[in-house]
Amino acid sequence: MKAEDVGKVGVVGCGVMGAGIVEVCARAGLDVLYLEANPDLVERGRSRIEASTLRAVERGKLDERQRAEELTRIAGTTTIVELTAVTGRPAQVVGMHFFNPVPVMGLIEVVRAITTSDETVEFSRGFGAVLGKTTVLSKDRAGFIVNMLLIPYLNGAIRMLDEGFATREDIDTAVSLGLAHPMGPLQLLDLIGLDTALFVANVLFDEFKEPLFAPPPLLRRMVTAGRLGRKSGSGFYDYTS
Ligand code: 3HC
Repeated sequence: MKAEDVGKVGVVGCGVMGAGIVEVCARAGLDVLYLEANPDLVERGRSRIEASTLRAVERGKLDERQRAEELTRIAGTTTIVELTAVTGRPAQVVGMHFFNPVPVMGLIEVVRAITTSDETVEFSRGFGAVLGKTTVLSKDRAGFIVNMLLIPYLNGAIRMLDEGFATREDIDTAVSLGLAHPMGPLQLLDLIGLDTALFVANVLFDEFKEPLFAPPPLLRRMVTAGRLGRKSGSGFYDYTS
């Protein structure tokens, strides 16, 4: 599949994930229109994309001309009618789960509902390839493949910290060096966003009623206190300086 076969892409929301998805689509040569709730959020989404593409230039992934070209492919709107709604048949509905940070992570989970046709699965795998990502196929249930494995691990790290079993630095260092992960679980929670992690844990717990998915009390308290991780300036670590 080529970029021309995909056509124009619509993205609903331009926060952490939406902005990353917009960026990778534009990088693949696709025109993208994103929808946000008000003009301020449209502007904020644009700033996120500008900052991330600038980082890509600084890291030698793009040159200035490519960045400028990429930015011309992106438009934001607050008007839902400008987005061609996907109101097709259930056979055309498919999930595509991207990972944070989207421009860097190489995976998309393609999620096949019981109604999804083979053609739709094939299309979304081709679309993933156009974006330069590897796709894996998951059936449709909470957590798909990755979060089903990730959430019990992250919950375990929060419980370990809350029990005073080890310090946050030692938990993160143990996993980074002992398992060769790029970051430890508490650092990863701060990257994902504690509100997102809480949301995902609740969805998994609702679906399976297994205690290992239940969000630990400390996670709930931190979200209530607005300590959401990097995006709010503090989480398990402080990002204000
Ligand atoms: N476009 C293209 N490339 C970019 C880029 C951009 N906007 N920004 C950075 N990069 C590239 C850099 O050039 C670099 O590539 P290189 O290694 O070839 O030079 C690479 O990305 C890493 O970038 P940095 O040097 O800025 O950052 P670090 O080396 O410190 O790595 C990290 C940061 C990528 C966040 C790494 O720590 C990591 O992989 N952490 C784990 C992330 C993870 O597990 N994410 C999944 C979360 S779970 C999820 O999303 C599911 C949800 O449902 C909960």
